Amino acid sequence: FNVPVPKNEPVLSYEPGSEERKKLKEAIAEARSKKIEIPMYIGSEEVRTENKVNIAPPHDHQHVLGTYNLGNASHVQTAIDAALEAKEKWTNLSWEHRASIFLKAADLIAGPYRAKINAATMLAQSKSAYQAEIDSACELADFLRFNVGYMTEIYQQQPESAAGIWNRVEQRPLEGFVFALTPFNFTAIAGNLPAAPAMMGNTVVWKPSNTQIYSANVIMEIFKAAGVPDGVINLIYVDGPTAGDVIFNHPDFAGIHFTGSTGVFQHIWKTIGENIHKYKSYPRIVGETGGKDFIVAHKSADARELATAIVRGAFEYQGQKCSAASRAYIPTNLWDDVKKYIQEDVKSINMGGVEDFTNFFNAVIDEKSFDKIVNYIEEAKKSDSVEVIAGGDYDKSQGYFIQPTVLLSSDPEYVTMCEEIFGPVITIYVYDENKYEETLTLVDSTSPYALTGAIFSRDRYAIEFGAKKLTNAAGNFYINDKPTGAVVGQQPFGGGRASGTNDKAGSMINLLRWVSPRTIKETF
Ligand code: ALA
Repeated sequence: FNVPVPKNEPVLSYEPGSEERKKLKEAIAEARSKKIEIPMYIGSEEVRTENKVNIAPPHDHQHVLGTYNLGNASHVQTAIDAALEAKEKWTNLSWEHRASIFLKAADLIAGPYRAKINAATMLAQSKSAYQAEIDSACELADFLRFNVGYMTEIYQQQPESAAGIWNRVEQRPLEGFVFALTPFNFTAIAGNLPAAPAMMGNTVVWKPSNTQIYSANVIMEIFKAAGVPDGVINLIYVDGPTAGDVIFNHPDFAGIHFTGSTGVFQHIWKTIGENIHKYKSYPRIVGETGGKDFIVAHKSADARELATAIVRGAFEYQGQKCSAASRAYIPTNLWDDVKKYIQEDVKSINMGGVEDFTNFFNAVIDEKSFDKIVNYIEEAKKSDSVEVIAGGDYDKSQGYFIQPTVLLSSDPEYVTMCEEIFGPVITIYVYDENKYEETLTLVDSTSPYALTGAIFSRDRYAIEFGAKKLTNAAGNFYINDKPTGAVVGQQPFGGGRASGTNDKAGSMINLLRWVSPRTIKETF
């Protein structure tokens, strides 16, 4: 690399009495005591509207943290205009200067803004301090730093030239603007989706999830403080269909960087297809969507390690990770021990608001999510093939709290073994320990997704056999580890099948989607 060598930002532990805990507590108290009003950021303007929408912590939904200004179709159009206007200057700025801006943003995140962005993620997305730290501080800084490294490589790669000629490749940004449509569950992903195309010389219209606007506002503050020029990233809050109607009908629409649900992504893809004749170029469609992530154990696995992976994989951040383990296949010989460990572990989980750092487990994101997850639990309770072996209760009087819930199903194709729930529910199927191969076939065929998955075994033949049988079942495949927590620069992240285009977030593959190379041959 011809830039500062990227290194993963060390994760702070927020031990009681530590300086970092003190700073974070102060940032939380400050955020809770203010009621901020969040504007849209379009070009050089902070845009306010008549429509103010309250933002409340999911774990304390009567407390108002602030409001955001809801926009309409005219704001989408203005954001596109601002992106197109900013394009020429930004594209012509040399890549080293674009890189500098994003390296500075990473340093601001890891330094002076660390407590502020973590506090925002904790309060408005109900993440524990540790989950916020690995996301909004470390992963976001890592995305920016590693992507700058990959970007450098991309710009420096050049073809061979024979005598008398000079071949070269120019990595041009896409012609038009890029749309970033971002999720609530990772502040890092929300920041990376506009940043990655912007880094490669594109200008962006960014629409975050309504439930992540509070921390998106901090990201925007950081981008501005780092020197991202006006109009390069335009942040708007508009309902999905209104935004889609303007964006996907625009001739300069050049690409979408998406993380969200499979249903929305498929709808977007179809809409782009229907409008394909309107665009100047074929738009880049890059999306990471749902998962029905699995853990499968061979009879040689260690029961204790397996139970830990199930509990952490399924319940960190209330199971609201696209990578969360949500189905597990356990052989009969291990089941009694695994069940005992899971029940003990789940019982020891503290649930409550994020302000108390001893709570490992907090609320789910909103009422709609709460109702959907509870419906799965209630249906399971009524089913003859399912037993609730841990959790199963819920309460939304103060916050959207659902206990970490473990279901045992005698039917490997019961609905919660197949459908994505996006909440703290895992379903376990116990299989005849001599039917490993048949079980791997089940794992591969039970869901349309292929995001993450894990295999547990102490038998190398069984591991290799499983890894081969499950070649296409997961874009991120873990051996003797939980299927969550991919680290930028170490485990490039993304899945295939219904889980997305597998353009690996935080990788050169991803950055290459945001350029359209021109090959030049000059003869002397
Ligand atoms: N990248 C996140 C994880 O691996 C989604 O858990």
